[in-house]
Amino acid sequence: MTTATAPGKIILFGEHAVVYGQPALAVPVTQVRAKADVSDSPRPGTWIHAPDIGLHEELSRLAPGHPLSAAIRSVFSALASPSPSPPAGGGGEGGLSITITSTIPVASGLGSGAAVSVALIRALSAHLGRPLPDEWVSALTYEVEKIHHGTPSGIDNTVVTYARPVYFVRGRGGEPPTIEVFPIARSFTIVIGDTGLPAPTKEAVADVRCLWEADRERMERLFAAIGSIVRAARQAIEGGYPERLGPLMDENHALLQEMTVSSAELDRLVEAAREAGALGAKLSGGGRGGNMIALVEEARARIVADALRAAGARRVIITTVA
Ligand code: PMV
Repeated sequence: MTTATAPGKIILFGEHAVVYGQPALAVPVTQVRAKADVSDSPRPGTWIHAPDIGLHEELSRLAPGHPLSAAIRSVFSALASPSPSPPAGGGGEGGLSITITSTIPVASGLGSGAAVSVALIRALSAHLGRPLPDEWVSALTYEVEKIHHGTPSGIDNTVVTYARPVYFVRGRGGEPPTIEVFPIARSFTIVIGDTGLPAPTKEAVADVRCLWEADRERMERLFAAIGSIVRAARQAIEGGYPERLGPLMDENHALLQEMTVSSAELDRLVEAAREAGALGAKLSGGGRGGNMIALVEEARARIVADALRAAGARRVIITTVA
């Protein structure tokens, strides 16, 4: 059996503006992971088991647009190797059995879709004897992400593939993105609070596009302000002053509110974290629902986590960015 895993992720700064060419910072969240196990099976065909979503199906019976089908087929075509014959093809040859599990909450901005694809693409290509390099894993995952997102910036597949903090700038006009893996001079603690509301990134991204089409000048100003925050945040992280991220988070959240991608639930958790002593807080990811993040002194992490639960967070994760 061949196994691969991939972590979740949070966007620290720059979501939405990143779609319009501004930089963004994202870090892996290693407490939660997606896992893919691939093994040979006596049964012909490629069998996919995803018990978390009650899926047990042969590849040829999944819609081609299904993200798991897209990820598997992308590996077969990248390796230019035909898929093991499905049952209808007969032939009596053995096939593959692929099991996907994940502890990453779905549709909440923690990169669960990207992590499943990365784990699956790695495990499958390795099992077939030709492990794909990270650039390929990331590029194939990006193609699958398009099914979830429409026009993804590429930040999720990048941070989840490399499992390192990344400074990411989307490429313009088909150019490849700028990806810089950057050092963390001093570790810092983030509390992640989940509103429990599904966060349809695609819709939030589409709504921001409508606003941009209606008033490009205003939206570009907001995006540029976010870009400045991202650059200042990177300097603070690299310079060993992570406490400076707190006020930057607050500013970034205010700009996201102006872009209409926050919600009453996210604002309530952000406020609760600040009142409990967080150094700053903001939504993270597509917004509307999903997760918020708060920068905390390590000793206050539990107090902030409890305050988030009391304010209605469904799940709280404390993570150290190191
Ligand atoms: O919802 P998430 O965490 O997958 O993040 C979406 C981030 C956006 O900037 C809103 C979209 C994108 O593709 O970068």
